[in-house]
This record gives sequence, structure tokens and C-alpha cells, in this order.
Amino acid sequence: MNILSPSILSADFKNLGDQIARADRAGAQYIHIDVMDGAFVPTITFGMPVISSIRKTTEKVFDVHLMVENPDRFIDDFAACGADLITVHAEACTHLDSTLQHIRDKGLKAGVALCPSTPLCALDYVLKKVDMVLLMTVNPGFGGQKYIPEMTEKIAELRKRLDLLGLNIDIEVDGGINASTIEAVLKAGANVCVAGSAVFGDDIEGNVKKLLQIMKRYEEK
Ligand code: DX5
Ligand code: ZN
Repeated sequence: MNILSPSILSADFKNLGDQIARADRAGAQYIHIDVMDGAFVPTITFGMPVISSIRKTTEKVFDVHLMVENPDRFIDDFAACGADLITVHAEACTHLDSTLQHIRDKGLKAGVALCPSTPLCALDYVLKKVDMVLLMTVNPGFGGQKYIPEMTEKIAELRKRLDLLGLNIDIEVDGGINASTIEAVLKAGANVCVAGSAVFGDDIEGNVKKLLQIMKRYEEK
């Protein structure tokens, strides 16, 4: 199934609950929550108190993307504040295998994220503990950046490898996804699309519906 995961990083934070409710009502299946620590990436966003608070506004899947050094320290806290799916960066984990197991032991879905220049072999030996691979299609840290075209080939290569291994793992793409770039990533084999600046703006409902419509077309193919 193709899934849209609007990133609240581009939402209007003074109306965050309302903005999430609008994306939810328009049909987005996940809510993408970018947690940044000012160390793994150059900026800081928000943490557990904000997530606990917005947990009351929607029942959609909380897709928590941790751009944090040594995220293992915080898995229990993110589980407690309402995450459904936690994604950690392979580049930020000292013991990736055990961190993924930790997420699953909390009863949550586990994701691994790779920055654009990190090769796919970073996923070797951990795929059986993974529900989703997040391929960054920009360098992590900020919303509103341009899609890196070389990532289309990386998505296709990952989908090919997963098919060969008979693994039914979601591929999420994150960064620069909008109505003009989404078709290429879907065609290459991505099925979970994060979109921040392409969703949050004046017409949240219209933006969600437009992206969902394109995603549906690719599901039928
Ligand atoms: C970037 C974040 C993204 C970001 C995407 O580091 O992980 O989730 O919000 O924003 P857009 O869709 O505007 O590129
Ligand atoms: Zn993200």
C-alpha cells in the first residue's frame, strides 16, 4: 500500500494540533515527526512533551524519525509518548542491531534511515529486524530542500534487493517530495512518501489530496 506521511516540520507550530487534524481528515495515513538533536544534524526541533501533546489530536500512525546521536538512550521515552514507528539513522547508532531489537521489544515498528551518501550495504545483516527503510532524498536537517536526483537509482536498487530476498519491507523517502518528484520515487519502488513543505501551507487538504491521488494511480499500475 502507498502511504503519505506529512512532516510536521513545515507546519505552523502555533496551530499544530489543528494542522495535524486537517492532514488527518484529508486522508494522510501517517504523521511524520522529525526529532533533531543539534548534534547529528545542525538544528534542534522538539521532543517528547510535544509528541505527547499532539498524540491527543489524531489516531494516525506516528512515524517518528530520530535524527539524534545514540538514539538508543531515548527509545523507551519515545515509546511512552506515543510513537508507533521509530526510525533511527544507521550513521548515528553504535549498535544498530540492538537498537532495532530494542524498538521491536517495545512492541513498535522499527525503521532504519540512510543519509544520501550512505551505501545500501549498511543495511546488510539487519534487514530481518526492520519494518521500513527510510532513504533520505536530501541531506537531513531542514525542510524545503531540493530532491537529490541520484536517489532515484538508490531506491530502485533497494527495491530490487528486497524483492530478491523476498522481504516485504516498506521503503520511505524523505526530502524534496512534491507533486513533480513523487512519480519518480513511486516508479522506483518507494511506497511511503514523506512530504513537509508540499503539504503544510494554506491548502493542507488540497495538497494531501493531490499527492494521494498520484500515489493511488501508481498503486493501480
Ligand atoms: C529533513 C526531514 C524531513 C523534512 C522534509 O531532515 O527529515 O522530514 O521535513 O521536508 P520537505 O518535504 O519540505 O523536503
Ligand atoms: Zn524526516
